[in-house]
Amino acid sequence: MSHQSDLIAEDISAYLEAHENKSLLRFITCGSVDDGKSTLIGRLLYDSKMIFEDQLDALETDSKKHGTQGDQIDFALLVDGLAAEREQGITIDVAYRFFSTDKRKFIVADTPGHEQYTRNMATGASTADLAILMIDARKGILTQTRRHSFIASSLGIRKLVLAINKMDLVEYDEAIYNNIEQDFLEFAQELNAGIEIQAIPMSALAGDNITSNSANTPWYSGPALMEYLETVPVGDERMAAPFRMPVQWVNRPNLDFRGFSGQIASGTIKPGDRIKTLPSAKETTVERVVVHGGDLKEAVAGQSVTLTFADEVDTSRGDVICAASEPAEVADQFQARILWMSDDAMLPGRRYIMKMGSKSVTALVSGLKYQIDVNTLQDKPGKTLALNEVGVCTLGLDQPIAFDPYDINRETGGFILIDRLTNNTVGLGLLDFALRRAGNIHWQALDVDRETLAEQKEQKPAVLWFTGLSGSGKSTIANALQKKLYSMGKHTFVLDGDNVRHGLNRDLGFTDEDRVENIRRVSNVAKLMSDAGLITLVSFISPFRSERRMARNMMTDGEFVEIHVDTPLDVAEQRDVKGLYKRARAGEIKNFTGIDSPYEPPQSPEITINTVNSTAEEGADQIVKWMQDKGFFS
Ligand code: ADX
Repeated sequence: MSHQSDLIAEDISAYLEAHENKSLLRFITCGSVDDGKSTLIGRLLYDSKMIFEDQLDALETDSKKHGTQGDQIDFALLVDGLAAEREQGITIDVAYRFFSTDKRKFIVADTPGHEQYTRNMATGASTADLAILMIDARKGILTQTRRHSFIASSLGIRKLVLAINKMDLVEYDEAIYNNIEQDFLEFAQELNAGIEIQAIPMSALAGDNITSNSANTPWYSGPALMEYLETVPVGDERMAAPFRMPVQWVNRPNLDFRGFSGQIASGTIKPGDRIKTLPSAKETTVERVVVHGGDLKEAVAGQSVTLTFADEVDTSRGDVICAASEPAEVADQFQARILWMSDDAMLPGRRYIMKMGSKSVTALVSGLKYQIDVNTLQDKPGKTLALNEVGVCTLGLDQPIAFDPYDINRETGGFILIDRLTNNTVGLGLLDFALRRAGNIHWQALDVDRETLAEQKEQKPAVLWFTGLSGSGKSTIANALQKKLYSMGKHTFVLDGDNVRHGLNRDLGFTDEDRVENIRRVSNVAKLMSDAGLITLVSFISPFRSERRMARNMMTDGEFVEIHVDTPLDVAEQRDVKGLYKRARAGEIKNFTGIDSPYEPPQSPEITINTVNSTAEEGADQIVKWMQDKGFFS
């Protein structure tokens, strides 16, 4: 984490301690520069009169400089100050403002005005309970509003305030307010279930319905904004979730002490609790929970602590310490929702650095399943993600990580993607679930898979399976075909019975059993070759239907082409190119196909070649034509 966020963490804990006994609401304001965001935040800070001390000092000095009298800060100057601070803060993602009232304390994530980047909004939203969507009453619901709502709801925010602002500029017209609310409610039906929406007509500038109900909107019976913020129930999901703590560093000041430090992401921990470290999956018991001031009886989500264990467990930075009874999952393949935050589009097939908690790994975006249209919230097809687009992707990592689905735990299910060259954050992601595929082999498989290999050869793989009697002409036709395919620029290989029986299968003879094994082996070789992207020509008698069927089933759909070289026995025997029929008839060769060993002709081959009335050349042409017609070369 950066120096800057360390400071923020310190500020936040100081603030929280100062108002310890009040409940805390974290919220975010979303909207464009002109929607009145600064005015609203200024209004809330001003009216609550309990601005975080540093801010107050700075602003007081400021107002004195500007000649304001008395101990009151001038409202306009306060708003100006906030806006200026934000302008200077273009490089920071989010500025956190603190304030409190008698009833509650608040942290508002205020985002810089440059709104073409949704990233700031998303960063603030990932820790917020509630989002205020600023709407300009004159403009109504914009794409930006829908996008912000979608991101807020995806990031786990369950409460949305529809702040229909600038009502003073539309004469506090109830109909305008109603239309906008209606519009939004219709859209919101597509958001996650369980989202609460409160629309409030207001003018941040004039102060209508901010701290108290305004006489300008007598038709509005709902709460003023402050009343709503003070009373809306906040359950602390982080406390209730199972214990998780990503290890930030291993603390070993001397030989007697070995502790694991980090910020508790969720749940609670106390000495005696059973824990499990992931991904190593070692279980042990917590001995001490240590902070600067000494030992704690219990620590909760948000606190930074050092844990010591009863046993030596091998845990390092980036591991996650979990409640032993409810551990996180471990996986290296995921489906995830990704919000793209870079001008350079996301490219499936590219590797990025994935940062989750204190862990960084290499992630390959292996595919974009679909995009999500932020206006309709419907799926739409897409190949990449451009700036501000959202999509559902599959991810492969170079090593397994511990995680929870984001919808179950926001702390251990969210991640960012970083460009490996520029080091910029380019995407924000939410893990949906692990893809249950075999572990490490798939990194390779995803990397350069059969499609990639075939694409590289600019062809569709095929297994052209020639079957027929000995001497039927299988090999002659296969060789003629291979020459044609070669001249067409195709990558091919011929597997021929006579040849393969000299090497891989030289331990096999011609009993039924051996022939079955012969075909089993060559089918597997053909399969590997088609995986390599080749057009493979298999020329084996392969007399049994059942083994040919097995070979067919082994191949990818549509890749197996059965070619029956249909030469009658008497013709093959008459040709007797190798003199084998003669010897078989003489009883010198046993189990000869067609003589004393059966041949089962194919019942529905893709191609039948008649060698009685046509040449091997013609046979090869017939196959090329067939492949052309079936789209093998397109
Ligand atoms: S298969 O039946 O197991 O598919 P395969 O195609 O590998 O046979 O081998 C057939 C070749 O082996 C024939 O072309 C021939 O040259 C030779 N051969 C030797 N003995 C036999 C036999 N008993 N039956 C068939 N082919 C034989």
